[in-house]
Amino acid sequence: MTQDELKQAVARAAIEYVVPGQIVGVGTGSTANFFIDELAKIKDTITGTVASSEATAARLRSHGIKVFDLNDVISMPVYIDGADEIDANGAMIKGGGAALTREKIVASVAEKFVCIADGSKLVKVLGKFPLPVEVIPMAQAAVARQLNLLGGEAKLRLKDGHPLITDNGNMILDVHGMQIANPVAMEALMNNIVGVVTVGLFAKQGANVCLLGMEDGVKTLT
Ligand code: 5RP
Repeated sequence: MTQDELKQAVARAAIEYVVPGQIVGVGTGSTANFFIDELAKIKDTITGTVASSEATAARLRSHGIKVFDLNDVISMPVYIDGADEIDANGAMIKGGGAALTREKIVASVAEKFVCIADGSKLVKVLGKFPLPVEVIPMAQAAVARQLNLLGGEAKLRLKDGHPLITDNGNMILDVHGMQIANPVAMEALMNNIVGVVTVGLFAKQGANVCLLGMEDGVKTLT
């Protein structure tokens, strides 16, 4: 199976977690895109969605799926999204698609986080994938110095030779070379750096369920 076929398989399996008549939180990235395509097939059974990025909102709307402003939503049984890395406890690195801030916000409102990923995303220790940190632009150099003191090497993410600008008007630092032995403690430490908007560690509130695409089928971790 190709990586895309594995992503498609978990996207299909995630439909089981969609609650009829309710609102679904929808993540960002290639796996989330497969999920959106599956959700389109049952769109008449849900009230609508909340999107974690402009790109996701556009894809949902292109399928005729209603997208609500989070401010108009009181409850959401489930948030479904991919990850760049996930460990056995459900702690994740996210933000490879630069959508980490809205992803964390939408996930915080949902009762359950269902992570969908191909099997290559499961790791023993988080950190091989460079950790994304969204920062206020005027603070990027100062924050990078603080992150480097924690043992990593922070690099400003570029797009077409210029700093990438997020949906929120901020920048992304990718922290290379971290071995994150205690994700909850590291998330808290980085959250305390002035100028940091969001750390791409989803550990304090990680995934409740992970659907992993493997050669021999979809494996569920809880
Ligand atoms: C976007 C994310 C994505 O969930 C993460 O990058 C995984 O993406 P993909 O499904 O394309 O492998 O956090 O900000």
